[in-house]
Amino acid sequence: MPVITNIADLKRIHERRVPRMFYDYAESGSWTEQTFRENTTDFEQIRLRQKVAVDMSGRSTAGKMIGQDVTMPVALAPVGLTGMQHADGEIKAARAAEAFGVPYTLSTMSINSIEDVAEATTKPFWFQLYTMNDTDYTSRLIQRAKDAGCSALVITLDLQLLGQRHKDLKNGLSAPPKLTARTIANLATKWAWGIEMLGAKRREFGNIVGHVDGIDDPASLGAWTAQQFDLTLDWSKISKLMEQWGGKVILKGILDPEDAKMAVKVGADAITVSNHGGRQLDGALSSIRMLTPILDAVGGDIEVHLDSGIRSGQDVLKALAMGANGTMIGRSYIYGLGAMGQKGVSTALEVIRKELDMTMALCGETNVANLGRHNLLIPQGFEGTWQD
Ligand SMILES: Cc1cc2nc3c(=O)[nH]c(=O)nc-3n(C[C@H](O)[C@H](O)[C@H](O)COP(=O)(O)O)c2cc1C
Repeated sequence: MPVITNIADLKRIHERRVPRMFYDYAESGSWTEQTFRENTTDFEQIRLRQKVAVDMSGRSTAGKMIGQDVTMPVALAPVGLTGMQHADGEIKAARAAEAFGVPYTLSTMSINSIEDVAEATTKPFWFQLYTMNDTDYTSRLIQRAKDAGCSALVITLDLQLLGQRHKDLKNGLSAPPKLTARTIANLATKWAWGIEMLGAKRREFGNIVGHVDGIDDPASLGAWTAQQFDLTLDWSKISKLMEQWGGKVILKGILDPEDAKMAVKVGADAITVSNHGGRQLDGALSSIRMLTPILDAVGGDIEVHLDSGIRSGQDVLKALAMGANGTMIGRSYIYGLGAMGQKGVSTALEVIRKELDMTMALCGETNVANLGRHNLLIPQGFEGTWQD
């Protein structure tokens, strides 16, 4: 059994274990991948202020996200095709999150369905919604999430059309994988993944297949989004969806202060400052750089979460100290899932908690609620001076 000490260890095992097309799907940004890269390198630019001779006993990473108790303010982000990284991946990630005491968000584009995850867990999870042209289908999805007892609707706003990720096109990404000479040659080297996948509950999009008609290629993410995603989504439609849901709403994919103000205006409970992990608008600034201007714009009127680029507990600490109320991780737990299933997700969360806790202590803090800009050294001009 390898000794796992950080997220990069899980990533290496993920790459070895999972078919190339799904590893590449996770490990891509759009076009030149500039935003994808800068999401992580911008975290590295922020440094920490060391404090000594402080009583470090009785530390706590616990907090709240949208009023829910969390053992640390780190939710699992919605990730499409999670069930292709590991058999029954969504169920396993949700169970790991539940055991750890953090929220799990199920993607619309999941392999396990809403009902599968509800059946396999005992606490409410969050459901992420992509809005489709077929409004009846969207309404049914919302109703299914309500029936499953989901405690928040995460409406993703930054993917009305799919950012181009070169590797996915070249690999012919599909779920299940289409058998070509190239995929067969690669799958032959991933036998452990394949054997587990034979026993999986599902191998296609569980929230969609059997629930909607009129798609030419039900295995292709590209075809789904091109044919089904609602290009006309705007703030008035968002308000209607929120009304239909009637519960807690998180608007995900906000990267602009004016959009953040709109989220306050429509009455969302929280926003996620996010560029979709660098998978949508290449050339956009990293989430961590956009955090301060967005916090300034909303002035405490809404809970602010951040994702994109978090690969350690130190990154979580930096986001919280800059003023975020919570964070989400995508790839950091997907590496764990691909590497070792449910145990890998638990390991990823444990690694992050340990790093967060230890960094907090060495910064002279004992509670995440007390973190602030006083713990950070932020390079001058970090947010940049950009001309409109
Ligand atoms: C492989 C992959 C699939 C994703 N699928 C979805 C999705 O279905 N819905 C969604 O709202 N966001 C999706 N995202 C974006 C994540 O929710 C999150 O914003 C992103 O992963 C954060 O960046 P990080 O991976 O650097 O932590 C996906 C991200 C990845 C890496």
